[in-house]
Amino acid sequence: MTTPEYDGAPLVALDVGTAKVAALAAVPHAAKGLRVVAAALASSRGMQKSAVVNMAAISRVIRRVVERTARSARQPIERVYVTFAGSKVHSQNNRAAVGVSRGVVDEDDIRRAEDSARAVTVPHNQEVVHVIRRGFWLDDKEVPWPLGMYGYRLEAEVHIVTAERTALLNLRRAVEEAGPEVSGFVLGGLAAGEAVLSQSERDMGVLVVDLGAGTTQIAVYARGEVWHTAVIPLGGNHISRDLAFGLNVPVEVAEQIKVEYGRALPSRQAQEEAPLNIRPFGAEEDLEVRPSDLALIIGPRVEEILSRVADEVAAARPPGVLAAGVVLTGGNAHLPGVRALASRVLGLPARVGQPEALPGLPERMRDPAFAATVGALKLAQLYEQAVGGPEAVWQVPPPRRWSQRLRAFLRGLLP
Ligand SMILES: Nc1ncnc2c1ncn2[C@@H]1O[C@H](COP(=O)(O)OP(=O)(O)OP(=O)(O)O)[C@@H](O)[C@H]1O
Ligand SMILES: [Mg+2]
Repeated sequence: MTTPEYDGAPLVALDVGTAKVAALAAVPHAAKGLRVVAAALASSRGMQKSAVVNMAAISRVIRRVVERTARSARQPIERVYVTFAGSKVHSQNNRAAVGVSRGVVDEDDIRRAEDSARAVTVPHNQEVVHVIRRGFWLDDKEVPWPLGMYGYRLEAEVHIVTAERTALLNLRRAVEEAGPEVSGFVLGGLAAGEAVLSQSERDMGVLVVDLGAGTTQIAVYARGEVWHTAVIPLGGNHISRDLAFGLNVPVEVAEQIKVEYGRALPSRQAQEEAPLNIRPFGAEEDLEVRPSDLALIIGPRVEEILSRVADEVAAARPPGVLAAGVVLTGGNAHLPGVRALASRVLGLPARVGQPEALPGLPERMRDPAFAATVGALKLAQLYEQAVGGPEAVWQVPPPRRWSQRLRAFLRGLLP
């Protein structure tokens, strides 16, 4: 199924997580949006802390998800955009200045300024994955888009995300062994932000926290742009493991208890809750546990994760306050009480972020756990529109699109 105005291959986002692998295929819809034409989902295998630990296992899961997506899109899937995380992700903001060569800023000046800003030395075994435009200053005055303005000194600032080279190579291999080629990587936390934030939240300052199974990913936005990104190597699997040790049950049972009855804070109606019967290892009889007791195990771990987030944000020193608060995504955003706990630990208003309801998005994926999946699709579309593709500085602002239109118009005038 494709929209009549579109005849190309669909754009595909592949979210390779620690708990699930999800794919979305979409075609451009109407003027600018996306229409989802196929989706598939499977439980993940061979991933730990959002990184590949068993190539064959994860590759099999990816193959299954890609094949299902291709079948329902009725087209082969030759290339995909892939989410990544892993514990060795670093980010920094960098600024560089150039002289304006002909008195008026032209596209070449902008490119030179951004090229200097992106030229940072990265540690051994790190690779640059994102270079995101943050802003421009012309003779020390911030300007949204300097093209065509008089000035002497043009400064550009970019946000640079790097990740462990071998982790990226492993992820690429796992996907490519399953069939499709990797067109680009998308940091999961940024993808989650793309799916759940409004522009006014980014302008006011906002923090996105994706509470996944293997890792917790954060993205801080200030003055409309990405300010900081990070990956904290703690996630829902740590909570389940704590429960398994605390209750003396297998991890799979603990995971099930967490999803069905878990909470991050004790309930106000704790006395009225029906107790659960749990059979610990080696016990002769069932043990009675109240859901509110589970909060005694889950709460401290969630609090630890959120404290790490708070430290990360404090160290990043975003300008101004994050007035739009914190938006929680990822499967663990479902834990009752997590919003109140996040608000308390981070000292910010908190909400749970549902991904944008793209036309055709299956009901099952209208869930905070799929924020990064939906956002990866939206970022893939941005990538494809960016001049120079995924390697280029992206987050194309409207003025650039205007200049592209102008160029297309001028080209049209040529014989
Ligand atoms: N209703 C629920 N209540 C509590 N936890 C839940 C619920 N549903 C899912 N989870 C938890 O969410 C996690 C899965 O989230 P998610 O799908 O975001 O992870 P992932 O993207 O596969 O992993 P990652 O991005 O960390 O590699 C698991 O830890 C699971 O226990
Ligand atoms: Mg995830």
